[in-house]
Order: sequence, then structure tokens, then C-alpha cells
Amino acid sequence: MHDIIDELTKRRQKALMGGGEEKIKSQHDKGKLTARERIDALLDPNSFEEWDMFVEHRSSDFDMDKKRIPGDGVVTGYGTVNGRLVFIYSQDFTVFGGSLSATHASKICKIMDKAMDVGAPLIGLNDSGGARIQEGVDSLAGYAEVFQRNVMASGVIPQISMIMGPCAGGAVYSPAITDFIFMVENTSYMFVTGPDVLKTVTQEEVTHEELGGASTHTSKSGVADKAFANDLESLLYLRKFIDFLPPNNTERAPYFPTDDPWDRIEKSLDSIIPSNPNKPYNMKEVVSKVVDEEDFFELQPNYAGNIITGFARIDGHSIGIVANQPLVLAGCLDINSSIKAARFVRFCDCFNIPIITFVDVPGFMPGTSQEYGGIIKHGAKLLFAYAECTSPKVTIITRKAYGGAYDVMSSKHLRGDVNFAWPTAEIAVMGPKGAVEIIFREDIGDEEKISKRSEEYRRQFANPFIAGNRGFIDDVIMPRNTRLRIAKSLKMLRDKHVENPWKKHGNIPL
Ligand code: HXC
Repeated sequence: MHDIIDELTKRRQKALMGGGEEKIKSQHDKGKLTARERIDALLDPNSFEEWDMFVEHRSSDFDMDKKRIPGDGVVTGYGTVNGRLVFIYSQDFTVFGGSLSATHASKICKIMDKAMDVGAPLIGLNDSGGARIQEGVDSLAGYAEVFQRNVMASGVIPQISMIMGPCAGGAVYSPAITDFIFMVENTSYMFVTGPDVLKTVTQEEVTHEELGGASTHTSKSGVADKAFANDLESLLYLRKFIDFLPPNNTERAPYFPTDDPWDRIEKSLDSIIPSNPNKPYNMKEVVSKVVDEEDFFELQPNYAGNIITGFARIDGHSIGIVANQPLVLAGCLDINSSIKAARFVRFCDCFNIPIITFVDVPGFMPGTSQEYGGIIKHGAKLLFAYAECTSPKVTIITRKAYGGAYDVMSSKHLRGDVNFAWPTAEIAVMGPKGAVEIIFREDIGDEEKISKRSEEYRRQFANPFIAGNRGFIDDVIMPRNTRLRIAKSLKMLRDKHVENPWKKHGNIPL
């Protein structure tokens, strides 16, 4: 018995050392934590239950039978974040570069299956050289097993990927299917084809960082949702982020009591809209003044800034925020902002998180690059997402709601549950000048006439009262009352239950 216990201790110690001291030092020298240190930073103290610590690969090609390391390059198991259950895998770069073998994949699949069985979020900490080259097609099969599970879990449990090192080739597609991708600045990168192959095939010369670093994916490609300065910061933010989410698609997000009164009056909002309709203001200020304790977790802050997305709470309950940002491209909807918001709306809908939409949109972005890029299909994604969404939807039109963009932005006609407008709202087919230049084409060139007619049009149509008269908005509210009116609406909508007609699935314009 003693021998077995000694053997167990020895084996456990070996497994805990991963690829060994030298490799751990090299990981630290790069400014990275090890797979286990990351789990310790993310989960509540002593909550981690590890599985499959003694699993080793079974390959023998290329002398691999002489190189077996317990755990096989990934630490897997479950634990809690602020007391709530999560399943986790953390790839260990110190063991074969965190590369994915058949057994490495089956460890990940095991915890994915259990996360689905019990309905708890799945977190992947990715740090891997990709397919274990020595294992060939067995490794590819392993990836596909993970992908299939990612797809089946989509919309059932939240799936979050934190990229904390290399993630290249087909390996990127597991994170890509998950709900959120976060990255660590300077030490992580993602690409389908690396710089060396690029140089050979297209003669382009780029660094790893330029091609697939955190700044590229959070500002250019929109692949990642947010980047953090280092491992520790990213894991602490991840703890905060998980608190906004429900564990699965049948349960609610946790309630966080707040000292911020639900009926707080925010007088400063009454003067936030400039008197000149062409002058911008910062919609983020509106959002933070309305939500609990000004605590807004913004997603993709550096990508498609003309639309704002993220999580917050009102009266202690999680909400998703979608808001046009007049500071960027005047808040116009374009290809990137439509896709960004559509994906976010669909996430909230999957998990029944109420969506609060703040509207100040002059329309869809005109231009050949937008038309050639397919704004018709991409804009339709957002329309589709809002229209199929059955989560509670509360909409506040702060200023412009013009044309098709009015319809798209969670209008009454797309089953907005409660639609408010501020007195400054302008709900019309288009802005006054554009409208006048079409209706009174003969006056073009006569600036005086055009501006007189524009003023007339503004007085007649650019206000919330016609929409109010039709019942397309439920009330015109004072900006200062926005928080309390949203809070009351959400309370009323708490047990909302709407089902779409049965279908295999819809066909969103991809
Ligand atoms: C086996 C690997 C490996 C891999 C790294 N290692 N990647 N072993 N399979 N894919 C091993 C290295 O041999 C080395 O072992 C150790 O991990 C650390 O790697 P280094 O190269 O020393 O580290 P670094 O200099 O930091 O470079 C990291 C790296 C590089 C950029 C990731 O290792 C690399 O380019 N690896 C290959 C990446 C790749 O081409 N992967 C396949 C992609 S295709 P020792 O014993 O020397 O310490 C793919 C298809 C998936 O993934 C398809 C899914 C559908």
C-alpha cells in the first residue's frame, strides 16, 4: 500500500511539473504563466478538481514512445468562479508546445461533454503549437471532435476562449466557434496561415504580431472581443466577465445586489444631446449613466466603434447593451458594425439576456465599398438577429432614427417589447436636408429655399410625436428618467415567454 502511495505522489509531482523546470522558466521568461498558474488565478482558491492528470499519449512514431509526459500538454477539470461552476481546459505549452494529440483532444472532449451534461460554462485557455505533428491524422481527428462539440454546445452553454500563446492553423476554429475570444497583448497570436507560408505564397512579409496579434484581432479583423495587458489581468477580467453570464440556456444570470437605486434620476442626461443635430456626443456616457454603478463591460471597443456592445446590469440583473455611437461615422450602420451587433444580439438571445438598445442612427453607410462589400446581406444580419430574438427588448431612441436603420434597431415592428423616445428623437425616413432635396428637387441650388424647407420638414417630421401617435413608441420620456423606466420595463418583462414557430433552424444571411 505504501509503495502505491509513494508511486502516486511521485507521479503526481511529475505531472505537476509539466515539461520540467527549464521549460517552465522559458514560459515565465516570455512573461507567461504556466497552465496550472493560470487555472489558479482564474478559479476560486482550492476549487479546482483536476481530471486525467495521468493520461499520456499513445503514439510511438518519431521515437515518441520515449517521450511521454503525464497530462499530455493540457490540464483539464472543473472549479468555481465566485462560487459558480465552470469547466476548464488549459493548454500547457511546456509539454510538446501544448500541441494537440489524440489523447490531449479526448481530455478536452471529456470535460466538454460533462459541461453539457450539467449545464455549466466552458472556458478554454489556449496556448498551443497546433496539431501534434508526430500524430498526423489522429491529431486532425482530435480537433474535429472538439469542433463538433463546440457546435453542439453553441447556444446551450456559454463558451469562452482566452488566447494566451500561439493558436495557428485549423486550431483557430475551435475558439472561432466559441461565443467570445479574448487575447493577451504581445504574447498571443491567431492565424490560419503563418508568416513563413505567407511569404512563400504571397510574398507578403509580416511579423506574427502584425498578422495575428491581439491588436490586429481587436481592431482590424474583429475576430477577438477584447485584449488584456498580461496573463494575470486577463484572467481577473475573465472572472468579472463570467459573472454577467447565465450558466446555460435554461437558467438566469446571477443577481448582483447593488447600492445604486433602481429609480435613480440622472439629471445630466437632460442636457447631453447637443442643440445642433449634426454635433456628436458620447453614447458611452449615456450607457454608463444608466447602468448600475457605471459598470459597463464593453466588447470590441476598438472595432466598429460606430456601434457599442457589451454587458452591464440594471437593478442587479444582467443586460446586453447595443448602442449607436454618434462619435464614430456619425453612428451610421456599416458592414462591420452590423456583423458585430448581430452576433452580440444572437448571443443574448441564446441565453435570454435582455437587450437594451440605444438608438441614434442616421442610416446605413452609403458608398461603393459598402455596396460591393455586401452591406445588403450584412445589414440584414442585424435585422434578422433582432427580429428572431425573443429575449426582453427595450429600446430608447435618443436622437436620430432614420430610414431602414430605424426599423433594424429593435423597433416596435421587430417585436421591441418597450420602445421609448427622448423628446430630442427624430424618427423619419431620412434627415431633413436629404428629404427636401428629393421632394423639392427643383429648389436644389437655392440654399435659402432648401434651408427653409428643411426647417419646415424638421418641424413636421423630425420629432417623436408622429411615431408616438401611431403607437410605434410607447412613451416619450425625459432622459433623466431613463434608468428607472428601463428598470420598470425589465421587471415587467422578467417572465416574458415568446416562442418562434418550429423550424429546423432559420437561414440568417451569412
Ligand atoms: C509537436 C510541437 C509543435 C507541434 C511546437 N512543438 N509545436 N511539437 N507538434 N505542432 C514543440 C517543439 O518541437 C518544441 O519541442 C516545443 O514544442 C516548443 O516549441 P518551440 O518551437 O521551441 O517554441 P517557440 O520558439 O516559442 O515557437 C512556438 C511555435 C513553433 C511558433 C508554435 O513551435 C511552431 O511553429 N510550431 C509548429 C506550428 C505548426 O505548424 N503547427 C501545426 C499547424 S497546422 P522541444 O522538444 O524542442 O522543446 C494545424 C492543423 C490543425 O494545427 C488542423 C485542425 C483542423
